[in-house]
Amino acid sequence: MKGGNIKMRQSSAFFFILNCCVIITLTDGFSLSNCTIYFPFEYSGHLKILCNRMSYRKIPSPLPHNTVNLDISYNAIHQIDERDFIRLSNLIILNISHNRISEIHSNALSDLTNLEELNLSNNKIKTVTTKLLNGLANLSHLRLDSNYLETIENQSFATLSNLRLVNLTDNKLKHISKLHPVLQVPHLEELYLGKNGFRVFNSSDISSAFFGLKKLDLSMNPLTAFRMTENIFPDLEYLDLSSCFQTYTSNWFILDKAFLNTVKTLNLSRNHIEVNQLDYIMQSFASVTWMALDGLKGFKVETLLQKACSPSLRGLHLEDNRLFVLNDRMFRPCALLNELHLRNNKVSRIYKSSFDHLVNLTELRIQKNDLTQLNGTLQVLPNLRVLDLHLNRIKNLGCSDFANLMQLRQLYLHRNQIVTIKACVFKDLGNLEELILSSNRVLTVSGTFTHGPQNLQCLDLNNNKLGAIQTDSFKALHSLRTLRLADNQILNIYPYAFAGLINLTDLHLASNKITEKSLRNHTVFAGTPNIRSLDVSCNYISYESQEELQSPPFIFLSELRVLKINSQRRGLSHIPSNFLKGLTNLQDFYAGNLNIENLHVDTFSSTPKLTYLDLSSNNFANGNALTPKVFQPISGLNKITLGRTHLKSLDFLVDANLSSLTILRASTNELQLINQTIIEWLPQLKVLDLQNNSFTCDCSNTWFIDWAVKNNKTQVLYLNSSSMVILTLLISFFYHFLKWQLVYAYYLFLAFLNDKKRKQTSNHLEYDAFISYNVQEEPWVLEELVPKLEGQHGLRLCLHHRDFQPGKAIIDNIVDAIYNSRKTVCLITHNYLKSVWCSHEIQVASFRLFDEQKDVLVLVFLEDIPLHQLSPYYRMRKLVKKQTYLQRPKPGEETQAFWQKLKMAIETKEDMEDRQILSGKYV
Ligand SMILES: *[C@@H]1O[C@H](CO)[C@@H](O)[C@H](O)[C@H]1NC(C)=O
Ligand SMILES: *[C@@H]1O[C@H](CO)[C@@H](O)[C@H](O)[C@H]1NC(C)=O
Ligand SMILES: *[C@@H]1O[C@H](CO)[C@@H](O)[C@H](O)[C@H]1NC(C)=O
Ligand SMILES: *[C@@H]1O[C@H](CO)[C@@H](O)[C@H](O)[C@H]1NC(C)=O
Ligand SMILES: *[C@@H]1O[C@H](CO)[C@@H](O)[C@H](O)[C@H]1NC(C)=O
Ligand SMILES: *[C@@H]1O[C@H](CO)[C@@H](O)[C@H](O)[C@H]1NC(C)=O
Ligand SMILES: *[C@@H]1O[C@H](CO)[C@@H](O)[C@H](O)[C@H]1NC(C)=O
Repeated sequence: MKGGNIKMRQSSAFFFILNCCVIITLTDGFSLSNCTIYFPFEYSGHLKILCNRMSYRKIPSPLPHNTVNLDISYNAIHQIDERDFIRLSNLIILNISHNRISEIHSNALSDLTNLEELNLSNNKIKTVTTKLLNGLANLSHLRLDSNYLETIENQSFATLSNLRLVNLTDNKLKHISKLHPVLQVPHLEELYLGKNGFRVFNSSDISSAFFGLKKLDLSMNPLTAFRMTENIFPDLEYLDLSSCFQTYTSNWFILDKAFLNTVKTLNLSRNHIEVNQLDYIMQSFASVTWMALDGLKGFKVETLLQKACSPSLRGLHLEDNRLFVLNDRMFRPCALLNELHLRNNKVSRIYKSSFDHLVNLTELRIQKNDLTQLNGTLQVLPNLRVLDLHLNRIKNLGCSDFANLMQLRQLYLHRNQIVTIKACVFKDLGNLEELILSSNRVLTVSGTFTHGPQNLQCLDLNNNKLGAIQTDSFKALHSLRTLRLADNQILNIYPYAFAGLINLTDLHLASNKITEKSLRNHTVFAGTPNIRSLDVSCNYISYESQEELQSPPFIFLSELRVLKINSQRRGLSHIPSNFLKGLTNLQDFYAGNLNIENLHVDTFSSTPKLTYLDLSSNNFANGNALTPKVFQPISGLNKITLGRTHLKSLDFLVDANLSSLTILRASTNELQLINQTIIEWLPQLKVLDLQNNSFTCDCSNTWFIDWAVKNNKTQVLYLNSSSMVILTLLISFFYHFLKWQLVYAYYLFLAFLNDKKRKQTSNHLEYDAFISYNVQEEPWVLEELVPKLEGQHGLRLCLHHRDFQPGKAIIDNIVDAIYNSRKTVCLITHNYLKSVWCSHEIQVASFRLFDEQKDVLVLVFLEDIPLHQLSPYYRMRKLVKKQTYLQRPKPGEETQAFWQKLKMAIETKEDMEDRQILSGKYV
């Protein structure tokens, strides 16, 4: 008999350890409570964790071992400790940028043997110490930009044999010779040194030729001298020297014109260079094919281009140069240019023959200038493929403006002031594929496209002033695939408005004034048989009942795959029962934010191929809002989103026959129970998101909790903000079903797990009591309890509003408060028991109870609360030790004794006398 008993206990202990593993993984979520964790979809085991902008002051820990990508940027972390990244050997990408790190323990990164990208930019690091990067043998990208770097210690880069890119931009480095450790990296390809304090660049400061370096950025250094006496960069392809030379007296010396002849891309923008120096410099860059000369001062552009336009030059940037007029002499030396960028000048006038010489020009960008009309000046560019004229002040387009531009593929005219466009304007653009006319003032397109462009594939008219779409407006655009008409004022769509667009797949009509009347006649979408995606969200479509429509609007769209009708501004309210008729191939249906209260059983009867259904932010509060029958015709449904719909139950899934459902999102609802039957009806479920629901913390959910923890098929997200809730549920589960065999194992496990915490408590305790209460009790706490206990009895109390460390995770604060206090006093009211954080406080204290065998909990009942409403902790605790609780005196009753008892309860030694728990006597 005895032996049998022991065996049983061992096996339950084993079972418990299994569950504990789960708890460990889940408690990882503790300090990561606000982070976004991308779980593996098909259980690849890898995690991506985003913890940016969380006000962390320390690296959150523990971090799961299987993290491959960790982003803790934009926090307030000051230092990195030795154990912060311990065991994270799977980590590949680590971003700790935008913190306040000034100190990194020398071995802190040494476990990150697989790290490839390390971003430490925007911190306060002053020194790269010898050991900092030690062991990061796989590191290929290192960002230390925007720090306070002054020193890079010798040997600090010695083990980084795979390093390819180092970014040291924006630091306080002053001498190239101090970069020695970086320049020793054998395979470095990209080195960014911009925005430091280098005054002199002298090749003799670099000891030997630096093979392999392809990109060097020295921009924004206050250089006075650039001297090359040796060919130290034999492979350099990209050199950025922009914003370097701020005086005309700078000293340029390049011993041999052949030294930099590998450079293909050169940026000399925003420098002060003398005209004769320019001559000299250009001789060394004779093979450059792409050059930026933006924001140069003191040059006549004509002189500049005479020197800069070498026969090899193909791309030229002349941005921010205050050009007002483009004349016919200017580009004469640049006859072989393919690309010319003139962004952000003040060009309002272009001579007729300005571009005569640029016969090879394929890309011309004159965006952000002062053009009002083109006067046909661009006709002479027969090879142009890309023409960017956006952000000008063009009002009218003439018939000859784009004449001859037979090769044009992309034409950008957005953000001008165009009101009407005549049919002749685009007639020659036989090869045009993309035409962007968004953000103009176009009132109508009737007539504009009667002659093409016949090969146009994408037409963007978003954000104009279109009020109606007439019959056959786009008929000639046979090749059109995408038509954007969002953000207009379209109210009327005439029959056959889009007719002829046989290749149209995407039609955007969001944010217009479309009403149910606009769609009353199904011929509005006739003649466009291949539309795959239609967006009519954010309009004014609204129906008063689910009654069948005479003429369902989408009847011709049998190829439609995606339909968005979400967010109608008056609320759609009712989906007519045959609204989706004809959509036999519909796969994704977005019907969120429509104030729908229920769905007619026939809603989906013509959409048998539906795989994704978004019904979020509707109002399904009524128990019969969703019925199994609604879903029966769409048994192929793969993903359904029901967040924020006031759902009280998922019972409609029983009998709904959703045997293919893999993702069910129902966060932020009023779900209390998930029963076994529901889950059994979803055999393919892989992700179940039930975050932010009001689960009851009692045994009615035990089946679900157990399943959520144990099943290895479905990833269940159902924590509110902390995994403590799960613990509550688990403990409740154990309490009800497994009882004391498990408590023993539980005790052992916690004792083993929490020795860190125990150390903290072993000697010095900061407080006598941590007072845990609901905010509604604050007046009583501040006016009576604190003055009594602190003032009269001299106790040291920990109060959350006063003593919690700001910026630290709440749960950490709670744990610290409890472990730094002799006792935890819970002021229990109905509200207290409802509040999540307060019950965490009981939970942690209960933990400590088992962990240290110390009874740290003092319960003070401020209201009468029936026993059965108390949390399982309380009940569990009651089994462990005889209850010690106090009742606050009712008004008029004597208070002296109460305060005395409370003081004694706080001061009594906390060791438990009866350790019968260990012997399992209470089973
Ligand atoms: C986590 O989010 C909650 C709610 O948004 C916030 O109050 C709390 O300060 C956040 N915690 C941290 C550590 O940022
Ligand atoms: C280098 O750092 C600068 C400044 O922070 C940043 O703007 C740039 O994008 C970085 N470049 C690379 C390649 O990391
Ligand atoms: C077109 O002609 C008008 C009137 O002569 C002139 O003001 C404008 O600058 C010209 N546009 C260009 C691009 O030259
Ligand atoms: C420039 O264009 C001419 C005629 O179109 C062509 O023969 C020549 O190869 C082009 N040259 C370059 C460098 O593109
Ligand atoms: C429509 O698309 C098909 C398939 O991409 C293409 O072969 C056909 O030429 C297109 N029709 C027109 C009129 O562009
Ligand atoms: C729809 O429009 C067509 C063409 O204008 C017209 O013949 C038909 O009567 C209209 N149908 C309805 C139901 O209004
Ligand atoms: C789960 O709920 C359904 C619907 O309310 C009910 O029919 C079924 O009996 C319940 N199953 C269990 C195991 O409680």
